[in-house]
Amino acid sequence: MTLLLTLGCAEPVVDSAPIEDTPPPAMEIDRLAARLSLDLVGRRPTEAELDALEADPTTLDAQIDLWLADPAFEERVVSLYADVYRSRADHYVVGADGDIEFLDTTYRAQFMRSVGEEPLRLLARIAAEDRPWTDVVTVDWSMGDDLLLHHFPIEELTPGGTGWRPVRYLDNRPAVGVLGTNGMWWRYTSTADNANRGRAAALSRVLLCDERYERPVDFKKSNASVDVTERIATDPSCVGCHATLDPLASTLYGFWRHHPESYTEALRYYTSREQDWVAHTNVPPSYYGQDVSSLYEVGRAIADDPRFVNCAVKQVWGFLLHRPPEVAELDRFTEDRATFIESGLKLRAAFRAVADDPWYRSDAGAWEGTTAARALTPDQLASSVEALTGYRWGVAGGIDAMVNDDYGYRVLDGGIDGILVTEAPTTETATVALVEERLAEAAGSYAVQTEMEQPLEDRILLRETADLIAVPTDADLRTQIVHLVRRVWSRRIEADSAEADSLVALWSEIHAGAGTAPQTWAFFLSALFRHPDFVHV
Ligand code: HEC
Repeated sequence: MTLLLTLGCAEPVVDSAPIEDTPPPAMEIDRLAARLSLDLVGRRPTEAELDALEADPTTLDAQIDLWLADPAFEERVVSLYADVYRSRADHYVVGADGDIEFLDTTYRAQFMRSVGEEPLRLLARIAAEDRPWTDVVTVDWSMGDDLLLHHFPIEELTPGGTGWRPVRYLDNRPAVGVLGTNGMWWRYTSTADNANRGRAAALSRVLLCDERYERPVDFKKSNASVDVTERIATDPSCVGCHATLDPLASTLYGFWRHHPESYTEALRYYTSREQDWVAHTNVPPSYYGQDVSSLYEVGRAIADDPRFVNCAVKQVWGFLLHRPPEVAELDRFTEDRATFIESGLKLRAAFRAVADDPWYRSDAGAWEGTTAARALTPDQLASSVEALTGYRWGVAGGIDAMVNDDYGYRVLDGGIDGILVTEAPTTETATVALVEERLAEAAGSYAVQTEMEQPLEDRILLRETADLIAVPTDADLRTQIVHLVRRVWSRRIEADSAEADSLVALWSEIHAGAGTAPQTWAFFLSALFRHPDFVHV
């Protein structure tokens, strides 16, 4: 807890300190709590959480453990890894034409979302249950929901479950965790010429953080007449990648589809096709030079590969600090990795270690490597609005607008669709503001309607205003505003401050235009939900 000792101290006068020097000062406790809570459980801290932390900042450690143990952490892991796996796409090459149920486009969209979430749900369950991270490539089960259970050849591990629950495939596929999920190989498919190479590259990127295959390739014209198969095997500008890529690709033929778009074919794994590499490239299977004879052995080889452990820590580092570690930060990174290893490879321990990092806990601009405030991701925005209002933006008969682009606004809000947009933009675009505005308006009205029916003690937002129909007195309005700022912006303001004055003036201005008090509250709440203090962390 030494970090928090910097709270309340005068900030050291430093022009600019390189990363390896003195740790930067921690953010004030309210903002730090908001950052941690949004990052770990996707919602703003409650008033009780803020009050407890303010009263005794040394309880932050215990609070972080509570957040990490919260079911919402599992949801966060799904969201965070969605950007790594890029699997939560609206469409795959696999169509869903084989089944009459998919004529219902809403149903089809929901099914596709479940397909893309399958590997992510497995990762998240492993993290939430504190299983060793090597389970990601070794377990013989996956996760399924009602939709996947209805369509995929899977059954529940324990019958009678609801929601996302552990399942097992019934088609003799190898026990290789995410590498044995349909979701992974619907997202990453292969044509005959591609020969599973794209799949092998994706596997290396998400599990080993091996980005080498993503480098641009220089196809020199002078060699263009040489047979491409021969070039791949002999041309120095090709073998650098293909010498390891193609043997890895040869281990993935159990997921081969003669018709990549065929739904019926894509449901299953084919042990009978495992050796089909002979007919395609005739490059024998191997894992980075190590002999392997099957995908099962690839799973074990990855679990034994130090790059797999490094990659997990690097990914968590990226989730929280939004960048890879710099060379000057290798000491800290190595410590985080040691913590992860000592924990028995529990992903939560990695989150815990990076969440303790002074650079994560600071946004002091003078310190290089600290994390500046940034816009909430579509998932974070949706879940933090939902936590305050109960509102979730459904479109086209129940599709989640913040997790979809065919019908919704995920990419417009700065998210990725995993196929056309694979990296989130680093700057905020105009469409982000538009999505935030519309979501804020809908959530504001929804919250007023909901809370109007609720007794004060059950309300989250308007709990200082018993009568939402009447125009509040100035004093009551100020009490309510102080509460709202605390709950929605995670800040404390005084009832007689200039900021409170301007919010009171805003309320009156809206009231003059809107007419009724409930409408005024709805617009007022939407203004709070659109404010930079809400949509940034
Ligand atoms: C930087 C790494 C890298 C280098 C260098 C490289 N490749 Fe590739 N190659 C890949 C990856 C990755 C794929 C799979 C791409 C995908 O599906 O996303 C691929 C796929 C291919 C394919 C299959 C294309 C298809 O139909 O999908 C051919 C053919 C190929 N490469 C030829 C070559 C030749 C010839 C060279 C040398 C001039 C070369 N590559 C150099 C990484 C590389």
